[in-house]
Amino acid sequence: MQREEIYAALPGALLPWYASHARDLPWRRDREPYHVWLSEIMLQQTRVEAARGYYLRFLDAFPTLRDLAAADEARLLKLWEGLGYYSRARNLQKAARVLCDEYGGVFPDTREALERLPGVGPYTAGAVASICFERPCAAVDGNVLRVLSRLTADGAPVDLPATRADIAARLEAVYPAGACGDFTQALMELGAVVCTPKSPKCGLCPANDFCLAAARGETQCSMEEICAASAFLCRTGGSVNFVHKPERLSELFCCMTAHGIEPKRLRLVCHREGAVPNLVLIDGRRGGKPGLKIEPTLILRRPDGSETDEVRRIYHR
Ligand code: ADE
Repeated sequence: MQREEIYAALPGALLPWYASHARDLPWRRDREPYHVWLSEIMLQQTRVEAARGYYLRFLDAFPTLRDLAAADEARLLKLWEGLGYYSRARNLQKAARVLCDEYGGVFPDTREALERLPGVGPYTAGAVASICFERPCAAVDGNVLRVLSRLTADGAPVDLPATRADIAARLEAVYPAGACGDFTQALMELGAVVCTPKSPKCGLCPANDFCLAAARGETQCSMEEICAASAFLCRTGGSVNFVHKPERLSELFCCMTAHGIEPKRLRLVCHREGAVPNLVLIDGRRGGKPGLKIEPTLILRRPDGSETDEVRRIYHR
């Protein structure tokens, strides 16, 4: 698939996935701009799990924008203690005061106006504009950059503002009318939960079918993960052969040779859920760079030992 086609395929792949897989997070319970803005500022340098408690305590203390605008600074900073980057808290209050004084306490609904608020950059403005006001505005953070770089196998340096701007523009060209907020959040969710920096869970990815990095075997997991797998499946052409876990890697190579899989054209895919090892699928059909390419692509067995749809499909076709 060409880059344009990959972008165009994203809403159709991500929106149904997001509808059934989105985490239940406190800032997703409504689309109130004050709530979404606060969460996005908190999440800029803080992980979701750490931010959750801060977010709830903050809103208990300052339930409305006006409460925040009128807050005692010492109390505000006390609530921020542990989150770090205190300028974020100070800018929140500055922006709340601007909103109360100049906008009658109502958030503007365009990216341009949002970006003029203290502490609000293109990312936060895009998030609020799309999630709260259904504007086709992208919010490209590190997670989203990684997702798109992998999907399109685009080697452009992700730390360049031009790369970020290019990805934002390409995304905005495919933003789905009426589902802009969900699309923004689906991209964030994919980067946070599935397309993680290390050991991405390609087997859970709704875009795996058209991911160029996955096709090239560039989303690798560690050798330890393969060695911890409980068993191997070999797939050559259309047929699948079950092979018990060999004791040594050399035995695995013998197995592969016996199944007509050429190690140099090998793709290993594996996935584990929790601490329980899954099966590893050795896919000899596709090419790749020489050497072992290990990609967590298919969940074949759940921690309770039951087979997933994928293994049923492979076995029974
Ligand atoms: N990271 C940044 N924004 C987020 C959001 N709204 N939900 C989850 N993770 C995020």
